[in-house]
Amino acid sequence: MEMTIIHGQGHHGSTYYITSMIKERLAGSDVQVHEYYMPQDAPAFCAGCFQCIQKGEKYCPQAEKVQKIVASMLRSEVIAIDSPTYCLEMTGQLKTLVDHLGYMWMSHRPRKEMFTKIGLVVSTAAGAGAGKVAKSMANQMFWWGIPEIYRVHFSVNASCWEDVPEKIKKKIRQRAEKVSRNVKSKIGYAKPVLKTIFFFNIMRKMQQSNNWNLADRNYWQGNKWLDRARPWK
Ligand SMILES: Cc1cc2nc3c(=O)[nH]c(=O)nc-3n(C[C@H](O)[C@H](O)[C@H](O)COP(=O)(O)O)c2cc1C
Repeated sequence: MEMTIIHGQGHHGSTYYITSMIKERLAGSDVQVHEYYMPQDAPAFCAGCFQCIQKGEKYCPQAEKVQKIVASMLRSEVIAIDSPTYCLEMTGQLKTLVDHLGYMWMSHRPRKEMFTKIGLVVSTAAGAGAGKVAKSMANQMFWWGIPEIYRVHFSVNASCWEDVPEKIKKKIRQRAEKVSRNVKSKIGYAKPVLKTIFFFNIMRKMQQSNNWNLADRNYWQGNKWLDRARPWK
């Protein structure tokens, strides 16, 4: 089993510790974990050149950094993304990476592999906003086609892990325990939910009349998704 973890921050704070707790509960001798840190492993900002969407992802000026992470995601059964809450949003450096993945949204060229993966998102805030950030990261995963996404978010009442009250740490440990059990039980069994199928079909309709982006249209045709084939079959 392989797992990719994208840390939306470069430091080891509360968010990192929660993700690590889940990682440790999932990891066994047969688990290979690939971890990336933003901004250390992050590409530069999207320049808005549209090369990835209109020509192909390899034409992105940041392709080398982006595709290294994508290759690791495609190999992994579990993909985790974490981010502390900054001004009620995910960190800017994480947003920079996910902007580069717009080409593989269901509305463009989603990867077949994504439709059977398990996603995990983790966020913390001192007070408010962690739920919103978790939802926002889960939304990115949904549009890549990931069917099963677990959200973990906590208001930790602190600016660093050491100051998180023991009562909250206890709740975090319990949640980490439960989520890792759920993730383990789903590995190899994740299937698209109705919402995924619904939006895939809308995108399929759109691609049937797509004469404005041939890279996308040819991709859907090449995968036979405009016929009877589906990415999860
Ligand atoms: C720039 C910045 C913005 C922040 N914005 C919020 C916020 O909108 N809501 C909140 O409750 N906490 C906010 N915080 C606090 C952090 O989200 C919180 O302490 C979090 O647990 C830090 O996670 P970390 O230890 O993984 O870095 C902010 C912190 C920073 C540095």
